[in-house]
Amino acid sequence: MSDVCPHKGASLSAGLLRNGCITCPSHVWRFSVVDGVMQGNEYTRVPVYSTRIVDSWLEVDLPPKPMTRTLRETLLAHARGEQSMDQT
Ligand code: FES
Repeated sequence: MSDVCPHKGASLSAGLLRNGCITCPSHVWRFSVVDGVMQGNEYTRVPVYSTRIVDSWLEVDLPPKPMTRTLRETLLAHARGEQSMDQT
């Protein structure tokens, strides 16, 4: 699962893991490590990623990182009338 708490961004890896839930060390929100859903609030969740163990290595299927443009690339794209990456 993501290490970033959706509340205020604390590191969940510093939290307590118990009974299938990680407790955020900052404000004690709890999330299922299975599906990332916050306990008591099904609309708040932490992204979770599929994993598998291959030859004693843990493989995590992370989503692709969003591409970032330099300021120059952004300005050139804007001048060409391309849609901003933020609006895609
Ligand atoms: S930062 Fe995690 S509960 Fe507030």
